[in-house]
Amino acid sequence: MKEREKFSSRLGFILISAGCAIGLGNVWRFPYITGQYGGAAFVFIYLLFLLILGLPIMVMEFSVGRASQLSAARSFHKLEPKGSKWHLYSYGAMLGNYLLMAFYTTVGGWLIAYVYKMAKGEFVNVDPDFITGSFSTMLQSPGYMTICMAVVVLACFAVCSFGLRGGVEKINKILMLGLLAIIVVLVFRSVTLDGAAVGLEFYLKPDFSKLYEAKGGLFESIFAAMGQAFFTLSLGIGALAIFGSYIDKERSLTGEAISITILDTFVALMAGMIIFPACSAFGIQADSGPNLLFITLPNIFNQMAGGRIWGTLFFMFMAAAAFTTIIAVFENIISFAIDLWGWSRKKAIILNLVFILIISMPCILGFNLWSGFQVPHVGNIQDLEDFIVSNNLLPLGSVVYLLFCTSRYGWGWKNFIAEADTGNGLKFPSKLRFYFTWILPLIVLFIFVMGYIQKFGA
Ligand code: ALA
Repeated sequence: MKEREKFSSRLGFILISAGCAIGLGNVWRFPYITGQYGGAAFVFIYLLFLLILGLPIMVMEFSVGRASQLSAARSFHKLEPKGSKWHLYSYGAMLGNYLLMAFYTTVGGWLIAYVYKMAKGEFVNVDPDFITGSFSTMLQSPGYMTICMAVVVLACFAVCSFGLRGGVEKINKILMLGLLAIIVVLVFRSVTLDGAAVGLEFYLKPDFSKLYEAKGGLFESIFAAMGQAFFTLSLGIGALAIFGSYIDKERSLTGEAISITILDTFVALMAGMIIFPACSAFGIQADSGPNLLFITLPNIFNQMAGGRIWGTLFFMFMAAAAFTTIIAVFENIISFAIDLWGWSRKKAIILNLVFILIISMPCILGFNLWSGFQVPHVGNIQDLEDFIVSNNLLPLGSVVYLLFCTSRYGWGWKNFIAEADTGNGLKFPSKLRFYFTWILPLIVLFIFVMGYIQKFGA
């Protein structure tokens, strides 16, 4: 069998895994749901979930990937005990990756459209209705959105066509470093605005009563925090597991997972440090939900001195974050076909390119021609795809990884710990075995069920 390609360096592995994690979840979803669920108290719960739940599951995914040397399409087949059925989840994992891209590419397209709109000064000295109108006009234009989405899809597959080291690893490093540099500049600009302090207080000083006041009450806040922890780390669908299959055994996996989680959290927290002070400085509420990015923020840049430049930089920051995730997930998708059917990389790229273009269309059409399609309590096609992935496949898939690694009917605790701890660096806290085996899956399932009751109940 052909030897699996490996990353050229440890930094490459950490940055690409962080790139897969860092995306719209950090720079868009995190600030807007933090705005909706009341600010700092929500952030606190979210951070707690990252630690007690996201981090261990990430180590498990990496371990499965590294031990099997395969993507989620085949890893369960290789590691499961003979006769067991864990491999059935490989379909869930593959579905999760494709469905994530089915709506993510559309938002990626919006972002490049906004980089362009900002750079050409479309939002300079205009009234707020124009900005709102511009976003709605875009949503009503399937042709325009399709072109933007196709540009994103083509660009990201083009990166993958240069291979793991020559394309994915290299471009991701550049995007991540660019992203970190832009963050520093934007945070500095935002926190030094007059009136930034109120936004900072909302964001950083927890007021737990706000969790009850939030739209669906305490449980919905907790469910949202948990969903965000899964989404931001792309857990439960093997999106990260693949990168475990591209590394050697020199480093133990817990330390690597901590570095990746810290990078991911840093970017999310900094996105909030950019957005909330800017909102308060211009007297704008930060609880406008998904519109925060495409309506609220352009309004802020419109009022800010030098807003055209700041706005362009801001949307470049958003686009870079989205691109790192799309490239990483495409890499995963490509490897499914390679692992499953032994396709060449080129064939896997061409066929997946066409397939992704096709499955991205319903999301686009859901805003215009197919806008009559609405699922009660969920929303349009994009909301539905997001709901299936974020609220279902990610938590349930995470439980699958958890049970697979802890149960003797799965891969088992011993194998998991041996893999996770191979190499230098921090070891997995195996004293907490009881917690990982019994409590953690129950926490996830409990919150999952309560979230459903809250969402669809009376
Ligand atoms: N982890 C990816 C994000 O946060 C899906 O956007």
